[in-house]
Amino acid sequence: MDTEQHHSAAPCAGLRIGDTPPDFEARSTIGPVKLSAYRGRWLVLFSHPADFTPVCTTEFVELAKEAKAFEKRKCQLMALSVDSLFSHFAWLRMIKERFDIEVRFPIVEDPTLVIGRAFGMVAPSDNDSATVRTTFFIDPEGIIRAMTCYPANVGRSIPEMLRTLDALQAIDAQDGLAPANWQAGDALLQSPTQDLDEVYSATEETTWFLREMPKGKSK
Ligand code: BEZ
Repeated sequence: MDTEQHHSAAPCAGLRIGDTPPDFEARSTIGPVKLSAYRGRWLVLFSHPADFTPVCTTEFVELAKEAKAFEKRKCQLMALSVDSLFSHFAWLRMIKERFDIEVRFPIVEDPTLVIGRAFGMVAPSDNDSATVRTTFFIDPEGIIRAMTCYPANVGRSIPEMLRTLDALQAIDAQDGLAPANWQAGDALLQSPTQDLDEVYSATEETTWFLREMPKGKSK
């Protein structure tokens, strides 16, 4: 990171769902980026351990192939690793040559790990550790709505990233709950009643707490 770059992330590892993450500004492959400038859109901010590594390369190829699917969901992608901007450029160039695909979403450089530490992507005491595969799903208000953490040797599922986004967007739109294995277009569940009369009058034993939302209902 050159000295002209300003990182304003506060040291606050241990982010949780519902938190507003610390803002930062940094260099990236598409120019300077500022986290708070992404308000108003969904953002998937994710770290990868290192450029020029096998699993990371497969993730970037697959994410680049699905760029339109994220766009369709009004969601931006932003990657981050400890590698320098010029390492990111060289890696993207190699990906284009080898896989015939251009990665156009920003990859942030974080050589001092200041962002990685602030987001809990690396242990606070690590000086040279690569970030793990942490993914933050950040909503248009800038709030963390979901997060995942995978080890360096297991690649993420891009369909699952899209499914998570679909689920978050659907529960917001319909004020419902997404059950196990939910897929876009499936019914959501309703929140359980908090009214004892409804519990006693429910037609079946489970319908007061486990019931689908009526089709087409939105809040
Ligand atoms: C990989 O992306 O393949 C990788 C990165 C860091 C450690 C191990 C594997």
